[in-house]
Amino acid sequence: MSIKILGTGSYLPEKRITNDDLSKVMDTSDEWISSRTGIRARHISVKDTTCDMAVKAARIALEESKVAPEELDYIFLATVSPDCATPSTACLVQSELGAVNATCMDINAACSGFLFGLNTAMAYTKAKMAKKILVIGVETLSKLMDWNDRSTCVLFGDGAGCAVVEADESKDVIVDVGSDGSLGKVLMCEERPLKNFLVDNDESMSYVSMNGSEVFRFAVKKVPKTVQAVLDQGHIDKDDIKYFVLHQANQRIIESVARRLKVDLDKFPMNLDQCGNTSAASIPILLDQMNKEGMLERGDKIILCGFGGGLTWGAIYLEW
Ligand code: COA
Repeated sequence: MSIKILGTGSYLPEKRITNDDLSKVMDTSDEWISSRTGIRARHISVKDTTCDMAVKAARIALEESKVAPEELDYIFLATVSPDCATPSTACLVQSELGAVNATCMDINAACSGFLFGLNTAMAYTKAKMAKKILVIGVETLSKLMDWNDRSTCVLFGDGAGCAVVEADESKDVIVDVGSDGSLGKVLMCEERPLKNFLVDNDESMSYVSMNGSEVFRFAVKKVPKTVQAVLDQGHIDKDDIKYFVLHQANQRIIESVARRLKVDLDKFPMNLDQCGNTSAASIPILLDQMNKEGMLERGDKIILCGFGGGLTWGAIYLEW
């Protein structure tokens, strides 16, 4: 038993901020940002919560899949920017959708979150614990940014993407996932500091901090390895893969991965120029845009690959 994607959805907040817009409020330039990352614009939420964006994307995916909310057995929602510590954003989404039969939980695997969500969905369907699952990647990263730290805040954006997946015995799905917590400090966002009647602590909440060059080095080494692991495991010829849908962090990372895998860059669709890095949301947003543009036909072989905070990584081969 494995999984098939029935339909996808995505949502980007209305407000689009270009690099030139940023250069009016901080010491940066379109030239610096676009030459190092490929990013030219990102969407930033002024009123949508993480739950709002996830619900808007989910409604589109459910409609396309012709699946009623009550048919969902699980909702797995990947995010590092939830609305509350509890309830989970997955539970908030369940309530808005009326997915009364779903069991819901959030997954925190940063930019690998959607991949880890699909991996979890696959495990649940294999164990015959579920037939239909909604997997969501959603982020409001703008609230985790230090807007005085130009080296980080220019890279990220907000948005949501999702897929309705169904158990399907006829489909081959191959997964490679991993984590290395010893490297966690290179990309961090600390939560509440220790504070109780024994500990007097005035520290406020912190923001995303990153050692950009370390993360870059990790990505260009690990991503080709995890993709190759999936190809090897499934005895799949890389020429048979129609698209390699990578987490949208940086155009130079994607170019380097294509070079290392010796695969034409045309097989690596990108939307990071318009969305920036939306962490857990980036893969499902791109997948939905490809789907809506008619780039995917049933039977197409694709590989999705995520990497980021944790550090975490993973690749999934599936047939569309
Ligand atoms: N605008 C203008 N200048 C900036 C800037 C900005 N937004 N951000 C940093 N700078 C300056 C720094 O202050 C520094 O100046 P200095 O040399 O005078 O000290 C300089 O630019 C650093 O530039 P450089 O060393 O060329 O940066 P880089 O080539 O390492 O690029 C990143 C930095 C962040 C773009 C790059 O490391 C990267 O993309 N890393 C991966 C990050 C990522 O994708 N994370 C998420 C993974 S899921």
